[in-house]
Amino acid sequence: MQRQAGDTAFLSPASTASVPQMRYTILTYGCQMNEADSERLSAMLSAEGYEHTSLLAKADLVVINTCCVRESAEKRIYGKIGELKKYKAENPERIICVMGCMAQKDKDRILERARHVDIVLGTSEIARLPELVAAVKAKRQKIVATAEGEAEYPARALLSPGQVSVLIPIMTGCNNYCTYCIVPYVRGRERSRPAKEIMTEIEEAARGGAKEIILLGQNVNSYGKDRPEDNIRFSDLLSIIDRDSPVERVRFITSHPRDMDEDTIFAIKNGHKLCEHIHLPVQSGSDRVLKQMNRGYSTEHYRNVVDAIRRHIPNCSITTDIIVGFPGETEADFQETLDFVREMRFDAAYTFMYSRRSGTRAAAMEGQIPDEVKKERLHRLMNVQNSISLKINRELEGSVAEVLAEGPSKDDPNHWTGRTRTNKVVLWPVSGLAPRPGDLLNIRILKAQTWVVKGVIADSGD
Ligand code: SAH
Ligand code: SF4
Ligand code: F3S
Repeated sequence: MQRQAGDTAFLSPASTASVPQMRYTILTYGCQMNEADSERLSAMLSAEGYEHTSLLAKADLVVINTCCVRESAEKRIYGKIGELKKYKAENPERIICVMGCMAQKDKDRILERARHVDIVLGTSEIARLPELVAAVKAKRQKIVATAEGEAEYPARALLSPGQVSVLIPIMTGCNNYCTYCIVPYVRGRERSRPAKEIMTEIEEAARGGAKEIILLGQNVNSYGKDRPEDNIRFSDLLSIIDRDSPVERVRFITSHPRDMDEDTIFAIKNGHKLCEHIHLPVQSGSDRVLKQMNRGYSTEHYRNVVDAIRRHIPNCSITTDIIVGFPGETEADFQETLDFVREMRFDAAYTFMYSRRSGTRAAAMEGQIPDEVKKERLHRLMNVQNSISLKINRELEGSVAEVLAEGPSKDDPNHWTGRTRTNKVVLWPVSGLAPRPGDLLNIRILKAQTWVVKGVIADSGD
């Protein structure tokens, strides 16, 4: 199957370190980009002879893949790193590596805060991990590898058994510099991967059993702008993938409202595998705040994009991200966000309290909002959105949806979980013969909730 150490064609020739029999585990925080990095790191470590374990206590190498987009994420991760102290004390030979966005941002300060950490590995040096582990073992020294540059690591991810959906980064980095956001500082400049490489990877994922691929980028709509010689825009890439890739479903995140164009909407409309769901973070419903955020669009532009999506793809679900309590956000600005949310009728919204990230432009802005105000606004916003999500989901009751089965629900093994093409999470009871991950099933939706819908397998012929 996929989990074969002999699959080494993608190894960089520079990595000569061989550390047989070491067991590794990876704890992943943050967005799908981090999940994708972890899957790729896994592939690389396995190819180097490491064995995967999900048990911390059994791991000789513990990798924590970190996020620093908000302070709350960082606190949680530093808490986790603190917990690892006792594992290190148990076995001082154990190697602890902090990698990813927080590692890139805090660099050697991580070693000051957590003396039991051995390796700090930035976002562009992931491929060096085996070499660094060997160096730590040989010299018992600590290593901080956070050079800025172009990430280089194996193209291929390691699929776990039964993995239905595979994340495929089509570009890394971000050039947008939204004033609140740390990502461009820790992920570097936008860089698109060649379409050929993406296609090869999709074919390999499909051979490994994947039924769905999720194309990743901080702003997928600017795919290809840094490769003018290839002349393949995002909408072209989508059409090529829809036509040529041997999978059932294709998704992508994240779209930027400024760069979302009609050709992309047409590609989805005309495609078969491209799913009817667009994640389109609006961030605020106040034009004044959007300007301060440097988002590069107005509410009117956003409304036009949503209108075009709904006109051409009538059943398309639209989800969003919203930040409350951006510096200077007044109650009137916030009311505009609430009104906009009511008007847009998003299927779902991921809502965040603004978190001050040092080094970003917004961190230095006047009018920072007290936490109590942010919390209170967040609650009001969630209430408005939750009732909209519930209403939209209720409209599905009685209908039959095509669901891609993923596996048993984590909370209740008698139920299975999967998603509709519009990315709704569906739960249904399984008795008797269980489906297989990757099966496409017709499920009749019976009961809607805010974040999931429940149903039963529909009779054949429905
Ligand atoms: N590139 C994507 C998302 C990146 S981060 C995009 O542009 O949409 C995911 C979400 O985290 C963002 O959409 C934003 O809503 C939120 N976010 C980013 N920085 C934040 C901060 N400093 N405080 C609170 N939320 C933040
Ligand atoms: Fe951050 Fe904006 Fe880039 Fe998204 S587009 S990663 S919010 S800077
Ligand atoms: Fe993702 Fe967090 Fe980094 S959101 S890009 S893991 S800072």
